[in-house]
Amino acid sequence: MGNIDNKVIIITGASSGLGEAAAKLLAENGAKVVLSARREDRLEKLAGEIGGNAAWLRSDVTSLDDMRALVRLAKDRFGRVDAVFANAGIMPGGNMSELKVPDWMDMVDINVKGVLNTIAAVLPEFIAQKGGHIIVTSSAAGLRSVPGNAVYCGTKHFVKAMLDSFRMEAVAEGSNIHTTVIYPGAVKTELLNSIAPSETKSMVEKFYEDVGLTPDVIANAVLYAVSQPDNVNVSDLVVRPSREA
Ligand SMILES: NC(=O)c1ccc[n+]([C@@H]2O[C@H](COP(=O)([O-])OP(=O)(O)OC[C@H]3O[C@@H](n4cnc5c(N)ncnc54)[C@H](OP(=O)(O)O)[C@@H]3O)[C@@H](O)[C@H]2O)c1
Repeated sequence: MGNIDNKVIIITGASSGLGEAAAKLLAENGAKVVLSARREDRLEKLAGEIGGNAAWLRSDVTSLDDMRALVRLAKDRFGRVDAVFANAGIMPGGNMSELKVPDWMDMVDINVKGVLNTIAAVLPEFIAQKGGHIIVTSSAAGLRSVPGNAVYCGTKHFVKAMLDSFRMEAVAEGSNIHTTVIYPGAVKTELLNSIAPSETKSMVEKFYEDVGLTPDVIANAVLYAVSQPDNVNVSDLVVRPSREA
């Protein structure tokens, strides 16, 4: 595997769960990490733990201006951007018949448009420097739809389809931009917190408690993808608990 020493990596959704774990592991392996989320106290604490190789900005993925400010911060503090982990996402859950329209729209804004804003902000840099790496968090639900989470499944299928086409375009254009879609199964994070209390929520929580992975497992997948040599593109990584069907 290649070396990630001094690679500058932007991470959205860094205030908890997968993003936080990835930030810690990537920094431990020599990367400089630029942390994004809305909860400032969490980012400040995490950056303090990592030390000089971390910068952070309170930023909302639904704002293209915020994502551009994040890229400017990375360049001001560390001189360049080598990779972005577009990971922020929400999963409020619920059947379509419940008509939780504001939740549907929030999922589209964060899980779909948020990823597009992140890519739009960083892509000019990658094109200009003839290289870069875009890593996106889809989900096992981005490969196979399940009931009870229709819009979430749709958003996670979107990022898979979009980044797969982007990968082919990048090859055809010779832009040397690498892409990775990560499809986690159940991981114990704060993701379930936004699901409204219900019998289904309790069942899902029990399943995650019983079989869910710890976030460092997905952080390892991110590290694997970013530490490959330049001629290797790890395009898709599905990482599930061994007890998840
Ligand atoms: N945990 C799992 O089992 C699992 C499985 C498959 C896929 N995933 C995906 O993994 C990703 C990370 O989720 P997680 O499991 O680590 O859950 P989490 O602990 O709830 O983390 C979600 C992160 O997204 C950030 N976020 C949410 N809305 C945002 C916004 N508008 N702007 C900026 N940041 C925002 C949150 O930060 P703030 O609230 O501070 O902004 C938080 O850092 C998500 O895309 C999720 O869909 C998770």
